[in-house]
Amino acid sequence: MAQRIHNFNAGPAALPLPVLEQIQSEMLDFRGSGMSVLEVSHRSKWFEEVLDDAIVRIKRLLKLDDRFHVLFLQGGASTQFCMVPMNLALPGKPVDYTDTGTWSTKAIKEARIQGKDVRVTASSADREFRYIPREVPVDPDASYLHVTSNNTIRGTQWRSFPDAGAVPLVSDMSSDIFSRVFDPSPFGLIYAGAQKNAGPAGVTLVIVRNDMLERVPDSLPTMLKYTTFAEKKSMFNTPPCFAIYVVWLVARWIEETVGGIDKMEAVNRGKADLIYGYMDSQDFYRGTADADSRSWMNVTFRLPTPELEAQFLKESLAQGLGGLKGHRSVGGCRASIYNAVKVESVQTLVDFMKDFSRRNG
Ligand SMILES: Cc1ncc(COP(=O)(O)O)c(C=O)c1O
Repeated sequence: MAQRIHNFNAGPAALPLPVLEQIQSEMLDFRGSGMSVLEVSHRSKWFEEVLDDAIVRIKRLLKLDDRFHVLFLQGGASTQFCMVPMNLALPGKPVDYTDTGTWSTKAIKEARIQGKDVRVTASSADREFRYIPREVPVDPDASYLHVTSNNTIRGTQWRSFPDAGAVPLVSDMSSDIFSRVFDPSPFGLIYAGAQKNAGPAGVTLVIVRNDMLERVPDSLPTMLKYTTFAEKKSMFNTPPCFAIYVVWLVARWIEETVGGIDKMEAVNRGKADLIYGYMDSQDFYRGTADADSRSWMNVTFRLPTPELEAQFLKESLAQGLGGLKGHRSVGGCRASIYNAVKVESVQTLVDFMKDFSRRNG
């Protein structure tokens, strides 16, 4: 039996153990093909079945109706920062963004590079992105309103999305897709790098509504058009087969083992309550996000001194708790408690935190 740690990495991140075991069990002979999934043709019946079923399951999990297409792209969520404005900005109309730090800031930058009329309509930059803005002005003239649903680095998350009326919402859900229930109908487009909650690095999920596809300019390069992927079921060229296969297994795990997104959300809430509940009961560890803006996926916190933080990271790793270092841009500590991180792992972390503060507080 392999020695596995409690994995709190921010991404690539923990995958469900049954998914890893499934990959292992069919690595040499994928569904009777006599080949690994790494070796089969993407045009083979074996892979097409995986792709088709992945789309069906993702639509069922997220309650997406027939207006939505599920696409698999490459280039990471970062490529979506440029593809979104390129494809969805309406001629002569502005594109609106909320800025909740790093990832939204990057998305804004990429839209500006293309010369779009970018407006930042709400921002939490005034307090180091510790919170989610409450008021988001909506202009019916905007092409879309962009939000980063979960800020992986600052540990903040939109609890509910702004009501933009008829303006389509566009969201980067890289670090919280499949973690909670939400109504997809106001969204024109959702994108997510798979490597946190949906699978391995190498594939980006894009969920796009029919009416958005009508906006795609003919003049764009073929590989940068959403219509190319929608019309060819993500198979215009060779898709990232292995990564899609793992996303399919993860979707199957959420549906069949966990019991759906509502059950997944309940588990995630329980894990978040466990660690935030402890943090609120003491003053050795300080959460960096405002309480009403806290992420259920990335728990960011500081210790009294940088020396204690270094000691905490060293000791936690020695006890089999990995990936607790904060993002290099902000320092401190971060526990990423994505779908695949079990409540037992969070409990082990909380027990370790208690013990560490008792010895060092
Ligand atoms: C919210 C969010 N958006 C975008 C990205 C960038 O994703 P990628 O590395 O797939 O380009 C990340 C990566 O950590 C992220 O957390």
